[in-house]
Amino acid sequence: MFRKFLFVCFLFLGSESVNGLQRWGTQFGQAPLLERFFWKALDFAYPDEASRNFAMMRGEFIPENALPVGIEIWRNKLFVTVPRWRNGIPATLNYISLDTNRGGSPKLTPYPNWAQNKAGACGSAITTAYRIHVDVCDRLWVLDTGTIGIGNTTIQACPYTLNVFDLTTDKILRQYRLRAEDINMNTFIANIAVDLGKGGCEDAYAYMSDELGYGLIVYSWEQNKSWRITHSYFMPDPLAGDYNIGGLNFQWGEEGIFGMSLSPIAENGYRTLFFHPLSSRREFSISTRILRDEQLSQDSYHEFQVLPERGPLGHCTSSVMDENGLQFYNLIDQNAVGCWNSALPYAAENHAVVARHDTAMIFPADVKVNRGLLWVISDKMPVFLLSTLNYTDVNFRILTMPVRDAIAGTVCENSPWGYVSNSLWWK
Ligand SMILES: *[C@@H]1O[C@H](CO)[C@@H](O)[C@H](O)[C@H]1NC(C)=O
Ligand SMILES: *[C@@H]1O[C@H](CO)[C@@H](O)[C@H](O)[C@H]1NC(C)=O
Ligand SMILES: *[C@@H]1O[C@H](CO)[C@@H](O)[C@H](O)[C@H]1NC(C)=O
Repeated sequence: MFRKFLFVCFLFLGSESVNGLQRWGTQFGQAPLLERFFWKALDFAYPDEASRNFAMMRGEFIPENALPVGIEIWRNKLFVTVPRWRNGIPATLNYISLDTNRGGSPKLTPYPNWAQNKAGACGSAITTAYRIHVDVCDRLWVLDTGTIGIGNTTIQACPYTLNVFDLTTDKILRQYRLRAEDINMNTFIANIAVDLGKGGCEDAYAYMSDELGYGLIVYSWEQNKSWRITHSYFMPDPLAGDYNIGGLNFQWGEEGIFGMSLSPIAENGYRTLFFHPLSSRREFSISTRILRDEQLSQDSYHEFQVLPERGPLGHCTSSVMDENGLQFYNLIDQNAVGCWNSALPYAAENHAVVARHDTAMIFPADVKVNRGLLWVISDKMPVFLLSTLNYTDVNFRILTMPVRDAIAGTVCENSPWGYVSNSLWWK
């Protein structure tokens, strides 16, 4: 183990440049972590230079105030969300065309347009988006928190509203305001999971994790209705509030339920939702059979399962599970991404680090799997929030690696579904 670690350290020293892209060595050698896009500061695709200058002059665009936090991929679009934590964020929901941008530091294009990204235009635009989700029915699920600011500077400009876009037409299919009873005074929702059942596109539920209000909000697409679930497992572990990331020591003691991932549909017809509070080293789980039933979800304390701890450096932001039950999760204390093959028990010996980089992956904020490719965004968020980013240095990166290479040689590769490595799905 120690020897492996040394080997890894040497690999970290070697990074090479290929056609302007850097290839970073990774923990397990086989898979290069490809730095697809990188930015010192974000920029937006204004129609022309004059309107960009005008926006900057008026304080509508302040480059050093923009921090990307969420990513999602659909066909040739790579979505990037930018919350309105500070002034001068021209658009919160954006994308990069993967056809015209192969690397470098592309400008973000507002999605679906500028008008629908106007701050505080309740009902007609999105004010702040965090993590977003694309489902297999070509729908983009975006929860608008309606907020401007962060922490004690937060203004609730618009109500929490779930927006579902049809990606094939770029039109909004559904807009649903969370009920007053779904939220509370401390509510802060920065993540969403979408559960498609056996019934297809109409059989859809969204689960939204209330990180500071400690709840899980369920939205049923078919019933066009929401409900809130509470459980003590949504709360932070009081012993897990201390962090050391990017050279900073800080305390985020209040961060409850955040990361969520959904298993494939099991024989009983339901998925399992895995979730974890941010200030915790534990994973928990619950069947969607409980979550989907408003009545049952209010009275099923004992249906929630506790899984073993990930270990001392086990703080985790986003996680994702692919259609084979392979979970990837961002290990923020380790500048790394971990994996767990859910065919095996959730135990330390069945976890592995698939990628780690102490420069390129400071605070991996989101993770996605799309067509056999693992996508990670790192953004140095604690440095942005608690100190100041160095804008002559690269601060934000979007990195990729093939899933097959990522898990090669790790415990996550050993599975009953050995067929996967030959399936067309990887193409
Ligand atoms: C808001 O929070 C910051 C940092 O935590 C603190 O310095 C400031 O005094 C707070 N302001 C108010 C009005 O509570
Ligand atoms: C869903 O419910 C809301 C009220 O909460 C209503 O305004 C909206 O029109 C409904 N949408 C559909 C598609 O039924
Ligand atoms: C900022 O980053 C640049 C480029 O990496 C580096 O040369 C410089 O020393 C950094 N400045 C500070 C104050 O750390």
